[in-house]
Amino acid sequence: MANSVASHTPLRIAVVGLGNVGASFAFALLQRRLAAEIVLIDANHKKAEGEAMDLNHAVPFGAATRIWAGEYADCRGAAVTVITAGAAQRPGETRLQLLDRNLAIFQQIVPEVVKHNPDGLLLIATNPVDIISYASYKISGLPAHRVLGSGTILDTARFRYLLGQHFSVDARSVHGLILGEHGDTEVPIWSLANIAGIRLREYCRLHSLPYDEHVFDTIFTDTRDAAYKIIERKGATYYAVAVGLMQIVESIVRDQKTVLTTSTLVEGAYGINDVYLSLPTIVGAKGVVQVLTPDLSEEELAKLQHSAEVLKGMIEGHLP
Ligand code: 2OP
Repeated sequence: MANSVASHTPLRIAVVGLGNVGASFAFALLQRRLAAEIVLIDANHKKAEGEAMDLNHAVPFGAATRIWAGEYADCRGAAVTVITAGAAQRPGETRLQLLDRNLAIFQQIVPEVVKHNPDGLLLIATNPVDIISYASYKISGLPAHRVLGSGTILDTARFRYLLGQHFSVDARSVHGLILGEHGDTEVPIWSLANIAGIRLREYCRLHSLPYDEHVFDTIFTDTRDAAYKIIERKGATYYAVAVGLMQIVESIVRDQKTVLTTSTLVEGAYGINDVYLSLPTIVGAKGVVQVLTPDLSEEELAKLQHSAEVLKGMIEGHLP
C-alpha cells in the first residue's frame, strides 16, 4: 500500500490560452476540485502569472490545488490539455471567419504540447472549434479518440435552457440535442427533444399547450445566435463554455462516460466522413468512448449532412 501511495502521480490539467475562456475554465476547475495541479500557459506569460496568483489566493477558501504559470514542458503528464488560445469573434464576425488566424496559432501550439505530452488528451475550445479540432487531430498525429472539441455542448445547453424557460421545467430535466457545426449550420434535433421521455408534441398535447412551430423556431434561432447577442452586449462569451469544458474534463478524469455533444471525428455515421462535428458522444478516461447515432428525421439528417459539407468545404479551402 505504501508503495502505491508513493508512486501516485498528482492529476494535472494544463490550460493553454488564458483569455476569458481559459481563465474562467481554470476557475471552474478549481471550484470543482477536480485536479491536484493546474498549469497555466499563455504566450503572454505575465497574464498567466497574474491568473495563477489570483487563483492561488482562492486556494485557502477551498481546494488544495497547485496552480502555476508554466511552459509547454509543464504539459508533461497532464491528463488533459485544454487549448483555448487564439482570436475570439468580434461583434458581427462569424466563427468561420477566425479560421486562418487561429489555424496559424495552432500550428505553433499543438506540436509543442504533443512533444512534451504524447500520452494525454487534447480538448479544444478555440473557434471555429470543429475545424480547429480537426486540424489539431491532424497536426498532433494523436488517435482521434484523444482529440476532442467543445463542439455544441454550449448550444445544447442553451437549447435546453430556453426550452426549460418555455415549459417552466428545470433545464436539467429537458433533453435535447444540437448537432453538427458549432455555428451557423448547427441542427436542432426536435424529433428527440423530450421532458421525462415525453416528446415535445406529446408533452404539449398532455398539458393542453399549443405546439407552436413559430415559437420553437424562435427558440432555435435564439440558441444558434446566442453568441452574437452576448458578444454585442459584453464583447465575449466565457462562463457557460468554461463550465461545459469543466464537465467534459470531469467525465474524462472520473471516467464518467457522460453523453456530451463534443466535436469528434466522424467516420461513416450518417454517411459523413473525415470531418469533426458534434454528435452525442460517450466521453470517458480514454476520451471518445463511443459516438452514438440515434435515428433522425429525414430533414434533420439532410441538415446534418449539409453542416458536414460546409465544414468539409472549409477544411479543403484552408488546411494544407
Ligand atoms: C459561443 O458560442 C463564441 O463560440 C462561442 O459562445
